[in-house]
Amino acid sequence: MKGNLIIKNASELVTCSGFTAKKGREMSEIGIIGEGAVVIEQGRITRVGPTTKVLAELKASGKDLSPFASIDASGKAVLPGFIDSHTHLVFGGYRAEEYAWRLKGDSYMDILQRGGGILSTVAATRSASREELTDAGLKRLDSMLAFGVTTVEGKSGYGLDRATEVKQLEVMADLNRLHPLDVVPTFMGAHAVLPEYKGRENDYIDFLLKEVVPEVVSRRLAEFCDVFCEKNVFSLKQSRRLLTNAVESGLKSKLHADEIVQLGGAELAAEIGAVSADHLLHASDEGLSAMAQAGVVATLLPATAFSLREPYARGRLMIDAGGAVALATDFNPGSCFSESIPLVAALAALYMNLSPEEIVTALTINAAAALDRAQVTGSLDPGKQGDVIILENPSYRFIPYHLGVSTVEKVIKGGVLVFDKLRQGECRC
Ligand code: NIG
Ligand code: FE
Repeated sequence: MKGNLIIKNASELVTCSGFTAKKGREMSEIGIIGEGAVVIEQGRITRVGPTTKVLAELKASGKDLSPFASIDASGKAVLPGFIDSHTHLVFGGYRAEEYAWRLKGDSYMDILQRGGGILSTVAATRSASREELTDAGLKRLDSMLAFGVTTVEGKSGYGLDRATEVKQLEVMADLNRLHPLDVVPTFMGAHAVLPEYKGRENDYIDFLLKEVVPEVVSRRLAEFCDVFCEKNVFSLKQSRRLLTNAVESGLKSKLHADEIVQLGGAELAAEIGAVSADHLLHASDEGLSAMAQAGVVATLLPATAFSLREPYARGRLMIDAGGAVALATDFNPGSCFSESIPLVAALAALYMNLSPEEIVTALTINAAAALDRAQVTGSLDPGKQGDVIILENPSYRFIPYHLGVSTVEKVIKGGVLVFDKLRQGECRC
């Protein structure tokens, strides 16, 4: 999208300025400009600063201001759009029944071992048409947009066969084209082990590497490769083999690491230089410090820990040890059926002891870095995409404070207003 827009008089213009992940103490530096303005031309940010200065510069430049729309953000905070860097947004069916089983005491992994869980979503996704998946995906993206999300990552992994994995990735390409949100696709064929591959996981990795990855790469269907590196799913050795080969083929790597047990996923992420390692609920001290040193972004998903009634990842310790932390929803039909950014923010504040500033960094520039997009989005810096949110409140501090409720009033994508709560919550306006 390529709009021309001036947003002015923001009580706080929170820039999150930067082009790489912020580590440790840097995560508290969010760059606040009082009475701030941001100018977007042809979809890109061109000026950021105090309103009086920005308007004076614009006037002095002699630019024709007639094509510019203008928004007065008096009494409102303005930030970069949120980036949800870990979701499983394309799937068929739901698992409400399974949720009820979990409430009665069944564990997430027991349900998967019995052929439910991810495997039940695999059956529903295989039988859904590309159109059905796209229609459901568009509605989910509208909901994410209303939470202030301007870029979202989505994973395959509910096919576990060539045709359905490809279908999920094609749906993500359709969604990216049809919806204002940017959709970043990840290939996650190694998401679960089908019964016919139980005990033959290496054969399944061979199948993925020989028969699926080449098509994914040649058709540019994904940017990342992810794996569920977990006890009774894919071992460290299998995950290493898949990811190193996928990287050689041109994909970037991510891992679901140390989610249910401590397996050494964090150490593996550091060893192979993954772009991010995600979950990390049970990651070891050594693994976390190796990740911090290797510059791997730790993507934490507190709504999943909440939903699974598991302990939270040690976000405070990771930041204090100099690591870069991102926050995401993990939106999926099983372990975390929620696309709520305010829920994630509240849990990160209350149970991981992250400050409001660290939460803002984790949802913007660090989340962009988790998708290798920190050069193009995630902050209000000249040259970046004009992806901006306007809150209904005067400060970013309302993001975790207003518990579970979205504070986002307007969403701007590439300089175009795409969501406005004041227009009856209309999306893609
Ligand atoms: O991030 N752990 C593996 N994958 C997802 C859950 C997917 C599902 O339950 O459908 C996760 O928790
Ligand atoms: Fe996940």
